[in-house]
Parts: sequence; C-alpha cells; structure tokens
Amino acid sequence: MNVTNFYLLDNNLVKNKVSLLRDKSCSCSNFRKLAKDLSIFLCYEASKNIKLINYKLETPIEETDGVRFQPVTFVSILRAGLGMISGALECIPDASVGHIGMFRNEETLEPVRYYCKLPKNMHESVVFVLDPMLATGGSACDAISEVKKEGAKNIIFLCLIAAPEGIKKLNKNHPDVKIYAASLDRELNSNGYIMPGLGDAGDRIFNTV
Ligand code: PRP
Ligand code: URA
Repeated sequence: MNVTNFYLLDNNLVKNKVSLLRDKSCSCSNFRKLAKDLSIFLCYEASKNIKLINYKLETPIEETDGVRFQPVTFVSILRAGLGMISGALECIPDASVGHIGMFRNEETLEPVRYYCKLPKNMHESVVFVLDPMLATGGSACDAISEVKKEGAKNIIFLCLIAAPEGIKKLNKNHPDVKIYAASLDRELNSNGYIMPGLGDAGDRIFNTV
C-alpha cells in the first residue's frame, strides 16, 4: 500500500488490547476501558509531534532545565471520538477540547455535520483529531477541513482502527496530516464497515447496539 504519514503502533500490549476490543463478546464497560487504554498509547506515541518549550526550574537541590508543551488541543469527532477523550486527557490534562458532531449517511456514506465547537487558540496548538474509526475517510477529511478553517496548522489524526481506503483519502485530501492507528485492517465491506473491524464504534461505546 502506497501511503505516507501513516504510523501503526507496533507493540504487543496494543495488539492484545485491539484483539479484546474487536471481540463481539467484549462488554460495554471493557470496551470503554480498552478504548481508553489504546488512546493513551496513541497519545504517548504521537506526543513526539508536540513542540517543547525550554524553561528553568528548581529541584530541591539545584536549578535545572525543564520542558513544557506548546498548547495542545484534542478535537473529538462525535459520537465515537468521545470514547478516546478520557485517555487523551489522562496524558495531557490541561489540553483544550473541541467537538465536531458528525454522522455518516447510511446510503451515501457521506459525512453529515451537525455540531462544531472549537477552542480559539487553534493556530498555536498542536491539534489531535480523535475518532476510533477511519473507514472511507469522509468524516476525518471533513473534520480536519473544519479544524483548518479555524487556523490549525499542525494536525495529527488518532484512530483505533484504520482501513486502507480511509488512509488513502486522508493522504490525498490532507497530505500534511499524520495518522496514528492501533490497527491497520484489511478493507471496507459493501456497507462501508471495516473488515475485520469492530462493528459500529459509537454503538459499542454507548451501548446503543
Ligand atoms: C463512525 C466513526 C467515524 C465514521 C467513520 O461514526 O466514529 O466518525 O463512522 O466512517 P468514515 O471514515 O466512512 O467517514 P458514525 O457515523 O457511525 O457516527 P457515531 O459516532 O455517531 O456513531
Ligand atoms: N464506522 C464504524 O463505527 N465502524 C466501521 O467499521 C465503519 C465506520
């Protein structure tokens, strides 16, 4: 597959948690916990992209060099992206959080936006857009366009499961955006679901199956 800017987490803990998450017998509470854990791993890996600002601090013994982060913003694509927010905030508790509400039209698979509330300081932030599923890539592309309209320049997309179709679309429409995923799956089925995937992420997180 000819893709750029795609980073797959290569770690045994991640592989095991993705397997547990996919399993249709996974309870709702476990699904939430696994989605949170995987989001922490994704943030850990993707935090390489955060600019560090040097400053001086005092330990109880002496002065030394410390680093702090540039402003960080998480943007959750509703609904399912909410399942990644608690893990993300566990890593960076003082990040700003934006929300973009979006669902796929079941016939056309085109994204329909119904809500958007983003923080003001997007131009100076590194912006992590969170959605567990990158399927056709329509929702991610549209959400990232909104984030760019608000001035964001440094954007990273974090997902649990990515399909090749979505990666290609995101690469084409937003070649500047890096994608981090916990799993790269095979392909989409005729209904636009990822195979093997995990089903409908929003339904599994919110127990609306
Ligand atoms: C899911 C998922 C993504 C989108 C991915 O949301 O959370 O936002 O589908 O598909 P795409 O890459 O083909 O656009 P869904 O539309 O099911 O809405 P929900 O989060 O409210 O369940
Ligand atoms: N959205 C989901 O929640 N799951 C898929 O497999 C594809 C889109």
